[in-house]
Amino acid sequence: MKIAAIVGSNRIGSYNLKLAEFMKERYSDRLDMDIITLQNVPFYNQDIENDPPAEAQAFIQRVKSAEAVLWVTPEYNGSIPGVLKNAIDWLSRGEKVMIGKPSSIIGASMGNMGTVKAQLHLRQILASPGLASPLLPGNEVYIPVVHEKIDEEGKFNHEPTTSFLDRVVSNFITWHGKHTSAFNQ
Ligand SMILES: Cc1cc2nc3c(=O)[nH]c(=O)nc-3n(C[C@H](O)[C@H](O)[C@H](O)COP(=O)(O)O)c2cc1C
Repeated sequence: MKIAAIVGSNRIGSYNLKLAEFMKERYSDRLDMDIITLQNVPFYNQDIENDPPAEAQAFIQRVKSAEAVLWVTPEYNGSIPGVLKNAIDWLSRGEKVMIGKPSSIIGASMGNMGTVKAQLHLRQILASPGLASPLLPGNEVYIPVVHEKIDEEGKFNHEPTTSFLDRVVSNFITWHGKHTSAFNQ
């Protein structure tokens, strides 16, 4: 399955970026993961949405070409980072490439709550009419205290976390197959 992993942190040393890179390698037999970072996505502006800058168009097309999306995001001040909201706003207009595209959310934070509040907001945002992305039900992945679960090479070394990720990825692949066949009928 071709899946776009959209990372909500622009930080070079981002744990969420490391998580996406770890998952790309670990699940490479089943997922063809395109990791998308948002440094080059310009500010959304309704004045230019019908003729977006090249960087916005390229971002939208990368997401369009994926069969599914994995949102990998930190929490900033109890919500999703502004860069991620900005990118989502681009996706919600024009071709509206997220409509009907299955997605799933994971997030890592250094705190104890593991991005719970950010994910609640993200679920609400993705239910908007311009996005309408079906979300994997019953699988919520919060990775708290992430800095203690990763080694110097960026490998996640916390077995309960990696085995949980294994189960969620399997669930996502199974659900995606059933969901898309139901959606296409
Ligand atoms: C502006 C800002 C706001 C933050 N707000 C929260 C927050 O609300 N909840 C939380 O758990 N961590 C918060 N953090 C800490 C992040 O969890 C931590 O910086 C994390 O490493 C960011 O993810 P990244 O490593 O992928 O960049 C915040 C960090 C920043 C820079």
